[in-house]
Amino acid sequence: MEIFEKAYIGKCELQNRIFRSATFEGMCDENGIPGKNYLSLYEELSKNNIGGIITGFAFISEEGKAIQPGQAGILSEKYIEHFKKVTSVVHTNGSKIFLQIAHTGRQTRETDIKQKVVGASAKKSMYFREKLWNLNTEEVFEIIEKFGNSALYAKKAGFDGIQIHAAHGYLIHQFILPTINNRKDLFGIDPEKGLGLKFLDLIIDNVRNKCSDEFPVLIKISGDDDYKKEFSKKQFSNLIEFLDLKKIDGIEISYGTMDLALNIFRGDIPIDLILKHNKIYKVESKFAKKILKTFIFPFAIKKLKPFSPMYNLKYAEIAKELTKIPIISVGGYREKKEIEYVIKNKNIDFVSLCRPFICEPDFMIKIEENNNYKSKCINCNYCAIMCDSKFLTKCYKKE
Ligand SMILES: Cc1cc2nc3c(=O)[nH]c(=O)nc-3n(C[C@H](O)[C@H](O)[C@H](O)COP(=O)(O)O)c2cc1C
Repeated sequence: MEIFEKAYIGKCELQNRIFRSATFEGMCDENGIPGKNYLSLYEELSKNNIGGIITGFAFISEEGKAIQPGQAGILSEKYIEHFKKVTSVVHTNGSKIFLQIAHTGRQTRETDIKQKVVGASAKKSMYFREKLWNLNTEEVFEIIEKFGNSALYAKKAGFDGIQIHAAHGYLIHQFILPTINNRKDLFGIDPEKGLGLKFLDLIIDNVRNKCSDEFPVLIKISGDDDYKKEFSKKQFSNLIEFLDLKKIDGIEISYGTMDLALNIFRGDIPIDLILKHNKIYKVESKFAKKILKTFIFPFAIKKLKPFSPMYNLKYAEIAKELTKIPIISVGGYREKKEIEYVIKNKNIDFVSLCRPFICEPDFMIKIEENNNYKSKCINCNYCAIMCDSKFLTKCYKKE
């Protein structure tokens, strides 16, 4: 396979094998309606020969909103006209766009969403530390319905498909993991598979029923996490086999949960910036800052994994052995040579990048022209830390 050849997600034709991975924008109003910066961002990306663009995560219900200000949402018919502006500009420029839909579950805060935080269980996130409302069976069914509704609004708004966010510790991932899911109802852990798949199963069915089987549905999953009880290769394989049976249109494989977010986007740990802008660690007093820097962070940092090129590739390789569904590998792709190696030699269908496109929206044009091109992104992670602030997502090192 080649980077620059047509490729398919379901029946959707992409101009090449590169995705822009979901990237939170911070460009919507408090209801999640996209503003003019959101439109300009996707207008720019769509002019730059990216095969498929996946939007930042959009909330499907009020209690599933993230703590980051300016998150997109898609809750009713009234959102359609706003997103239509975005999809039509992308299509005019010859690109394809997929809306990522998500529910945060326990990975949010009551102060931000102005209501109780819900979870697959009452087990708190060690990062967000919020007291949780353990969703009852009826409430779980309501959320499944909302995922389907949001997918339908996305379809009506002209998106080429959706991506279900089942990675990074958000609600679907919370149901999947036995470390979190201790439910006794039908949404509990299947002892044979060692996973809680019923929630995702019914979400996929609901989306398919509402949008038809023709509408492309991607999914993002985590190959592993940082919890003490290991997510085994067997569990991962069972997850891929389940997605194979569900005939999903493409599987993007990432890593981890927001409990250790810097293992999802690996690289630098800008401690001073974290202390200034991160909503959980932000402290005003010099003394508190010192305590965090001296005692808390050195402990937390030990659990962080260093950046290495293509850092999630091994999961994509395992998945590729188990299914013919297109596999999308994300995490640490910075050079054309790496992308080429994975697509040509490892037979991985697609490569997906996030930070390089924040840094250089024209990255594709550059790698098309220069075989030795390396992204200017230095993994400083300023873009990631600043998601918590009121500022729009951008590359800070370019200034
Ligand atoms: C600023 C920023 C925002 C992100 N927003 C999302 C998001 O909305 N949804 C998602 O699934 N992943 C999100 N991610 C994770 C990326 O999609 C990707 O999985 C991760 O950054 C690794 O890829 P990279 O090395 O190419 O940056 C975000 C990452 C960053 C740095």
